[in-house]
Formats: sequence, structure tokens, C-alpha cells
Amino acid sequence: MEGRLSRDEIRIHAAEDFAAMHRAGELAARILDEVGPLVAPGVTTGALDDFITRRVEEAGARSATIGYRGYRHASCISVNHVVCHGIPGDKALRDGDILNIDVTVIVDGWFGDTSRMYVAGSLTRRAERLIQVTHDALMKGIEAVRPGATFGDIGHAIQSFVEAHRMSVVRDFCGHGLGRVFHAPPNVLHYGRPGTGPTLEEGMFFTIEPMVNLGRPETKVLADQWTAVTRDKSLSAQFEHSVGVTASGCEIFTLSPAGRFHPTWG
Ligand code: MF3
Ligand code: CO
Ligand code: CO
Repeated sequence: MEGRLSRDEIRIHAAEDFAAMHRAGELAARILDEVGPLVAPGVTTGALDDFITRRVEEAGARSATIGYRGYRHASCISVNHVVCHGIPGDKALRDGDILNIDVTVIVDGWFGDTSRMYVAGSLTRRAERLIQVTHDALMKGIEAVRPGATFGDIGHAIQSFVEAHRMSVVRDFCGHGLGRVFHAPPNVLHYGRPGTGPTLEEGMFFTIEPMVNLGRPETKVLADQWTAVTRDKSLSAQFEHSVGVTASGCEIFTLSPAGRFHPTWG
């Protein structure tokens, strides 16, 4: 693989690699735009995943998750107290359910990874608050991205914002470097202290994907070895973007083409 690694073994990509990441990120984001209108009470998460599988194929791309460590689906769909890695299945959504749909595609060998929140039917006030804080926490993290900042700065921006709203940041899962691989160094923690961790450099590509709980941060993985839930059964939300560090800040590779990243937009 071309290019160089940073002192912390994080790949530094070339200027022309940004365009490739935009193509991969845009496809993942477009598929999340398209699945939105299908989310409704009575619809199964398996039906949503079938649609996503078809859209990936129709785009001439590949799913990064089918066959990944034995995972068999094109998306993870995490409903209510499921924190992440929910397996799509035949359970129907109910009115008021909130869900994260996470899609990763491979386009010309490059990975685009993004997730966002959806609502089946009516949104409760509690869920609305959780979703807003989680979305805004991701954007606070992204605002901290620039050369010379550290990964601890990103984690601190997210954690301090979430805790100011009396919610908690999940510690058991993190963001990750990506590019021509799905999961690469570094671990992008969504908590931390300013000035700690590796220093960001232009050309680094990674995800930021905070999971926020209304209750305590602890999680457990169910017997299926994938589904992570909150230990206290409290509601959980997550948003994820793939970004690249530029000279002045960052570019978001997974912006919603339709402007529908947040469930109350468009
Ligand atoms: N897309 C997830 C992430 O944000 C990873 C899902 S791996 C799977 O890193 F196998 F569960 F699909
Ligand atoms: Co990710
Ligand atoms: Co993801």
C-alpha cells in the first residue's frame, strides 16, 4: 500500500484519495437516504436490510459487512436499547421505536461507513432529546478535527457535551481509521482528555461514531455474539460519519445527498 504512516501508525493518504472516499461515502449516505421512507411501524428490520442489500448491488458496489467476521447482513439495525451491531431480522418495528441503521460499502476498494437514527411512527420527547444530543455530539467531535489537534480533543469535545446534558457516552465501542480497509488504527474514543492521544495529520481518514445512552454507559453483548445492549435497558442512540483531515479542518465523506442525516430533517 502506498503512502506513509504517522508516528502512531495511522495511514496518511494522498490528496487524490479524498475523491475516492467521497464516492464510497456518498453511496453509503445515499442508501441511508433511500431507506428512510421505508421505516414505519409494522416493517421488519430484515425488510430494511433486504432493501439495503439490493441497493448496494444495484450500485455495482459491495457490502463491507457481509462476510465480515461471520456477519451476514448489509447493515446493522439497532433498535431502542440496542447500542450497536443489531442483527436485522423478522421482528416488526412498533410505533415510537427509534433505530440506528449502519451501512458500510466498498466502492473501487474504498470504504464508506455511516450510520444515523430513524423513528418508526411518532417520536417521544425523551427519544427526541437523546437523538438531538447524540447528533450534536458527533458534530462537536467533527468540529475538533484539524491538523495538530489530538484524538483526545475529539473525545473530550464529545464527552463533555454529552455529560453536560446528563447522558452517558458508551466506552465499549469506538470509531476507527478506514480507507482501503474497514478497521484500521487508531481507535477513535468518544471520551478523553484534551491534548492526549495521537496527533491528527492531514490525510488521516477515520470514523467518529458516538453511542449515547439515556442511562448508564455499560453495555453487554447478547448470546448471538453481536447485539450490544445497554445493561440498564436505557435507550441508546448513535450517529456516524467518515471524515478526512484537510489542511484547515476536515471533509465529511458521508454527508447526506438529500440533507436527511437527522430524522427530523427533510
Ligand atoms: N459499520 C460498523 C462500524 O461502524 C461495523 C459493523 S461490523 C458488522 O464500524 F459486522 F457488525 F457489520
Ligand atoms: Co464505523
Ligand atoms: Co458503521
